[in-house]
Amino acid sequence: MTVKSRFLELLEQNKGEVISGEAAAEKLQCTRAAIWKAAKALRGEGYEIDAAQNRGYRLSPGLSPISAEAFKLHLKTQGISVKVFDELDSTNRQARRELMDGTIDSEGVVIARSQKEGRGRRGRTFFSPEGGLYLSVILRPETTMQQSLILTTAAATAVFLAVRDVCKVDLSIKWVNDLYLDSRKVCGILTEAITNFETGDIEYAIVGIGLNLKFQEPVPVELQEKIGELTNPEGEQIDPNRLGAAIVDHLLEEVQRTEVSEIYREHNMIPGHRIHILDGERSRDAKALSINSDGTLVVEEADGTEKTLFYGEVSVVPTKE
Ligand code: BTN
Repeated sequence: MTVKSRFLELLEQNKGEVISGEAAAEKLQCTRAAIWKAAKALRGEGYEIDAAQNRGYRLSPGLSPISAEAFKLHLKTQGISVKVFDELDSTNRQARRELMDGTIDSEGVVIARSQKEGRGRRGRTFFSPEGGLYLSVILRPETTMQQSLILTTAAATAVFLAVRDVCKVDLSIKWVNDLYLDSRKVCGILTEAITNFETGDIEYAIVGIGLNLKFQEPVPVELQEKIGELTNPEGEQIDPNRLGAAIVDHLLEEVQRTEVSEIYREHNMIPGHRIHILDGERSRDAKALSINSDGTLVVEEADGTEKTLFYGEVSVVPTKE
């Protein structure tokens, strides 16, 4: 670990308190000049560090940018690798690259402060400017492609629980894996897998989660009515380090399930509603009936027949009744 990284860890551990240059240098076994240099570099990265009238350094008690150091302080799960990048094409792509070249070979988290080509479902792009939370969790689930829907519903449950803990807000889940606040989408999830071709087993799952917190760029016109920002009920900004860590902790617990959680069913906005089913270029109307324990959705088609939908096939949109 570099001096900069260890100094940031020390500042995050003592957020809002003054640490003298001397004490920091002694703790990190380096010179005071090295501490000064680290503080300068961190300020350049957006950390608010006051020089506290030459008494020492103090990290502002306000929100800090996402960093592996702050993220790990909030993470209860031990021994998992956490990597933070300033900008990536896509955290899901980076996770796949790192698995392929052997940089990562176990569970881990890849985070970016912004994404140039955030990947959404059905080949769409995910708007990912600075100010959001974009992370991919690499898992080694003992599951097959047939049971993979449970992973996606587990991710939605984990986001729901983490947002409830950290933001004190209950989101609505839209089958299969979008989360909404007051009819605006605030979170999207894209789960991708690396499979063993012969057995059909999932060797690695990459669970990509994107949350809209505070956009630092104008929202494209076509998204303005559709997406929203997640805040607490007072409208205050959310700490991305705390929220991200809570999501990872909940996700590692939720993926142990073999059936969809009660939370996922209870807070799902789809069952009981009329929906549009978008199937490739075609769309049709139906009524959503219920969610099976394997995560599939049971619908009643216009001709009265029941059909079970697996998420890869369709995307559903509630209609205004
Ligand atoms: C969707 O709503 O269509 C799914 C969006 C998933 C976006 C997240 S952001 C982090 C991870 N990296 C990506 O490229 N995509 C996912």
